[in-house]
Amino acid sequence: MSTVSGPPSAPPTTAPPHLYGRWRRDPILTVGGVIAKAWWPFWRPLSPIRRTDDVLGTITLQIIDRQVVAADENVVALTLAAPDGSPLPRWHPGAHLDVILPSGRMREYSLCGDPADRHTYRIAVRRIPDGGGGSMEIHDELRVGDHIPIKGPRNAFPFAVPGHGSPATTIRFIAAGIGITPILPMLHTAERFGVDWSMIYTGRSLESIPFRHEVTAYGDKVAIRTDDRDGLPSMEALLGATDPATGRAPSGLAVYSCGPIPLLESLRRHLADRPDIELHYERFSPPPVRDGRPFTVTLASSGRQVRVGADESALSAIRRAMPSVPYSCRQGFCGTCKVRALVGEVDHRDTILTDAERAAGAYLTCVSRGRDDHLTLDL
Ligand code: FES
Repeated sequence: MSTVSGPPSAPPTTAPPHLYGRWRRDPILTVGGVIAKAWWPFWRPLSPIRRTDDVLGTITLQIIDRQVVAADENVVALTLAAPDGSPLPRWHPGAHLDVILPSGRMREYSLCGDPADRHTYRIAVRRIPDGGGGSMEIHDELRVGDHIPIKGPRNAFPFAVPGHGSPATTIRFIAAGIGITPILPMLHTAERFGVDWSMIYTGRSLESIPFRHEVTAYGDKVAIRTDDRDGLPSMEALLGATDPATGRAPSGLAVYSCGPIPLLESLRRHLADRPDIELHYERFSPPPVRDGRPFTVTLASSGRQVRVGADESALSAIRRAMPSVPYSCRQGFCGTCKVRALVGEVDHRDTILTDAERAAGAYLTCVSRGRDDHLTLDL
C-alpha cells in the first residue's frame, strides 16, 4: 500500500455513528443534551444558523464555489456555506442533503466533502438530460452567490469504522461513476482512522468519472477501471483480494458500494451466502418493483385515471398525468411523495410511515402499491 499524499489532512474527528445509526453516548453528553433541549427556547434566538422554516427544518445556504469535476463536463460540484460563515450542523460519511431547487423540486444529494470541515458542505450532480429536471436546473441555473434552502443532513448509508461499531477488519469500497459521492468522505474517514482499505472505481470512460484527481491522490489503494478500456469488471475484480485457501473474498471484509442497480444487485446476489462479509450499499435510482401487479390510480381532484404497470411505481405513472408532483428519493424513505389514500386497500412498501400514519391514510407513491385494482389518491 502506498502512502497517501494528496487528500486534505485534518485532525481526527469523532467516530461515525454506530452501524445502525446509534451514537455511542457519553453519559455526561446525554445529560448535557437534556439540559440544552430544556434551554433551547431561550438560546435559539442567539443561534448563528437560522432555521428559515421551523416546521420543515429548512436552512438557507449560499453557493460559494462551483467546479466542473469530470472531464466530460457533465458533473458539477457545489460548495455551500452559511451566508454569515457560521458553522454548519455536523454530519458523517454517507449523509445527504435535501436540496430545494428554485422550481420547488426537492432532490437528495450525498455530501462529498470533508466531514471535518464544519463550515462548508459539498455536493456533486451529474447532468441527466432525460431525468426529472433537477440536475438540469442545478447545472443551468444555479451560480455562485445564489441562495438555496436545504434540509438535513440525514444519513441513510451510515459508515461504521472497524472498531467503532463494525467487526470487519478490512474495507473494500466499490464506486461507479457519480456513485463516488457518498464514498469520498468515507475514504477521508477510513484514512484518518488508519483503516485497512482499498477501492475500485469504475465508469464508462475516464472522461466520465468525477473527482478522478482527488481519488488518485490515494495512490495504489485505488484502482480505476473503465468499461471502454478494461471491459466490465468481474466480481473478483470488484471485491479485490481473494483468500488463497478458498479462492473467494476473505472473511472480515466490509463492502461499501454505490452505483447502478445491476452492479448492486450482482454484489447482493454474489454475497448472499457470505454472512461473514458486510455489504452496505446505496442506490441513486428506484429499486426494481418486486411482485408487482397492475392497478389503477384515480386522482381525486380531477377524476383522471392512470394505469400503473406491474413493473413501475405509482409515482412514475402519476407523473405522466401530473409532471410536477413532488418526489425526491424514490425509495420510500424521505416522505416527499406522501399523499392520502382515500379509497382502496393499500400495499405499503415504505420504511418510514408509522402505523398511525398508515391508519390515517398516508401513502408513499414511489414504492407503495394497491392491493385492490383501484386506488383513489388525494391528488
Ligand atoms: S420520494 Fe422519497 S419517499 Fe417517495
